[in-house]
Amino acid sequence: MAQGLGVPTFKGGPFAGQPQGLSTLFFAELWERFSFYGMRALLTLFVVTPIASGGLGLTTVDAARVYGNYTMAVYMLSIPGGFIADRYLGSRQAVMIGGSIIALGHFTLAVPTQTAFFIGLALVALGTGLFKPNISAMVGGLYGAGDERRDAGFSIFYMGINIGGLLAPIVTGYLAQSPAFQEILRGWGLDPAMSWHWGFAAAGVGMTIGLIVFARQMGRLGDVGIKPVVAAGAWLPTAMVLAGTGAVLFLTVLSDDPRFQWLRAAFLLVPIAGVVWFAMRGDLEGKHLAAAFVLFIANMIFWAVFEQAGITIALFGLDLTRNEVFGWPFPSAWYQVLNPLFVILLAPLFAFAWVRLGTRQPTSPVKFVLGLFFLGLSFLLMVPAAMLTAEGRVSPLWLVGLFFLQTVGELFLSPVGLSTMTKLAPPRMVGLVMGVWFLGMAWGNKLAGILGSGFTASDPDALAVFFLQQSVMVGIATVALIALVPWLKQLMRGVR
Ligand code: PHE
Repeated sequence: MAQGLGVPTFKGGPFAGQPQGLSTLFFAELWERFSFYGMRALLTLFVVTPIASGGLGLTTVDAARVYGNYTMAVYMLSIPGGFIADRYLGSRQAVMIGGSIIALGHFTLAVPTQTAFFIGLALVALGTGLFKPNISAMVGGLYGAGDERRDAGFSIFYMGINIGGLLAPIVTGYLAQSPAFQEILRGWGLDPAMSWHWGFAAAGVGMTIGLIVFARQMGRLGDVGIKPVVAAGAWLPTAMVLAGTGAVLFLTVLSDDPRFQWLRAAFLLVPIAGVVWFAMRGDLEGKHLAAAFVLFIANMIFWAVFEQAGITIALFGLDLTRNEVFGWPFPSAWYQVLNPLFVILLAPLFAFAWVRLGTRQPTSPVKFVLGLFFLGLSFLLMVPAAMLTAEGRVSPLWLVGLFFLQTVGELFLSPVGLSTMTKLAPPRMVGLVMGVWFLGMAWGNKLAGILGSGFTASDPDALAVFFLQQSVMVGIATVALIALVPWLKQLMRGVR
């Protein structure tokens, strides 16, 4: 049918009826996420593993600091990454350069020294800041303003993300953690404690495949993502974005110092100031922006708990869970498969429900409420699990339940977030509002590291309290947001 309209199509398959360029972006992002989640599945485990077993031998608190700052930097750097692509590089070049820096970063992580580890992380964060926002922007660019295929296109793209995230921990977890691969290394006359670095290298191979796919199939993108024409005198805003991001990044990391911990109050005070300031303006634009800042806080709290998958939950899987199915042992990194798996299984149900419900579907603030609610339930489920660890390792099913509930929450909240921002932002400020949204994600991830540092594997009661406190925190946020829904609906007049 689409062929009759002169739109290039594939013969059948998931891309049927979609612009050809979608397959280029789909596979490039699949492999980029393969490398991202393949490395993330190992990150915390590697940091806390004793030096004799090839890890860095650091404490949980150190691991949480590394994790929080790394993931925070990834999102923070997306702000200049998107900005630089819009003004100078174009999305395509930003993706090529970003992807190359990412691959280089993972290969640096394959070098077994502590210096290489931190340089590698910095490179991956920098490269991802260039890659991730721009590849997503190009997906949007494939469709004209009224193109009905846009939402389906983004859903297919989100599948690619999660296929990458699903395959990666299986490969990197096997290489890094399985006795079988360590045996192979020994057989080759190599040090089995080096297995972690084989896992990191595999992540680098994934990104390299992604780059090759992208470079070879770029032609399918038409003129999406090509270099923009630079307006004269455009350097000042760029300098401001770079300096501003650098300053916020610096201050956020500085807040790890006990003397500067008060800086963390900004995570809440900045968005609250935004709400008050814009609500007081009284015009429609101000109302929309006030609503955006309320959702900023909900979004930040969501990721602060959700992103502990890579720290708190990774450690729970490592130390406190019976890692075997039907008597077969498996690497603890494999738990990271569950979130992408549930996305792949559940996303079509959500898409179906939204289409079916049409205008009767919940408004975006209500979807945020539901997202927080399921997230809170997921940590509540971990309270009995934590108590049971007093009797030894617990069943893997607890983590299956946790990831199921969290993924339901993610599917309510995450796809709605970005699209609501594009609707709430006045047209001349879309980029700025997106940047502020990414700041919320960055602080959420930083908070994930801060909260995750409270994890303990040796005190079941303290661990139960740890999960309970966070579940209550999310519960309070959920109730507060429910109370604000009528006001939000008023603020968001004209926007669903
Ligand atoms: N799994 C998602 C991804 O990697 C998580 C995410 C959601 C990241 C929203 C950024 C923004 O893409």
